[in-house]
Amino acid sequence: MTQDEQKRAVAQAALQYVPVGEIIGIGTGSTANFFIDELARIKHRIEGAVASSEVTANRLKQHGIEVLDLNSVSEIPVYIDGADEITRNMHMIKGGGGALTREKIVAAVAQKFICIADRSKLVGVLGKFPLPVEVIPMARSYVAREITLLGGQPAWRQGVTTDNGNIILDVHNLNIMNPVELETTLNQITGVVTNGLFARRGANVLLMGTDQGVETITL
Ligand code: 5RP
Repeated sequence: MTQDEQKRAVAQAALQYVPVGEIIGIGTGSTANFFIDELARIKHRIEGAVASSEVTANRLKQHGIEVLDLNSVSEIPVYIDGADEITRNMHMIKGGGGALTREKIVAAVAQKFICIADRSKLVGVLGKFPLPVEVIPMARSYVAREITLLGGQPAWRQGVTTDNGNIILDVHNLNIMNPVELETTLNQITGVVTNGLFARRGANVLLMGTDQGVETITL
């Protein structure tokens, strides 16, 4: 299967996790887009969705799926999203699409995180994919210096402004042996909004596309 065929297959498989009559959280990216297109076929079964980005909200609306403000929702049974890297421990790097902060917020509210990903995303150790960090614009240089002291090489994602009006630093050359600790350390740098490590709140289920079909991985 091609990468896109794997993405479509995991998007279809994720439909079984969509609870009837409930609100679901939806991520951002090409795999999430495949999922939104699949969800449109059963949209009458859900009450609505909370989106992790403006792009996702627009795609949901185009399909006639109601988009709800997170502040008007107290429970999200399931959040479905892709990842840039994921380990068998269910720790992830996310934010390749720049939506990491809203993704992390919706995932925090959700009871269950279903990660949908093609086989290329499964890794032994996180860090080959540059780790995105969302930063308040005036803190960009300071945060970059602090990250350098931690051993990373930050690169400003030029021309990108997040949905929250911030900038992204992509941190190269990290070999992340302790993702929970690094997630916490980076978030303590003043000016960091959040970083793309999803380790403190990882995925509960990974639906992974392979040449043989969809493999389901849980802890
Ligand atoms: C966006 C994300 C995406 O989930 C991640 O970049 C994976 O994207 P894709 O499904 O296009 O490979 O975190 O901020």
